[in-house]
Amino acid sequence: MESAVLEAYEKLITITINGKSYDVPENNTLLRVLQFMNLELAYSKYCWNGDCRNCAFRYVSRKTGNEVEALGCQMRLFQSMVIKRLPEGVILN
Ligand code: FES
Repeated sequence: MESAVLEAYEKLITITINGKSYDVPENNTLLRVLQFMNLELAYSKYCWNGDCRNCAFRYVSRKTGNEVEALGCQMRLFQSMVIKRLPEGVILN
């Protein structure tokens, strides 16, 4: 599918954020997916290129099962990803 804010995707994947499931486009970073979800983002706060770290979030690693940090502008989400903490200031209703 085509979208102005998203990378091309064929299907939705299911992720969990703070214990709740969401179907979101595959092949996209967390920040792009938050845009897709129509969350209010303070866009000026984000550099979108890995420098500012304002997009840092925490998820459960597939390899170790441990909670780890990643950058929301860099990391593509994966099927069954469990997100434990969104970037600071992002509120999910
Ligand atoms: S938005 Fe700046 S590091 Fe991700």
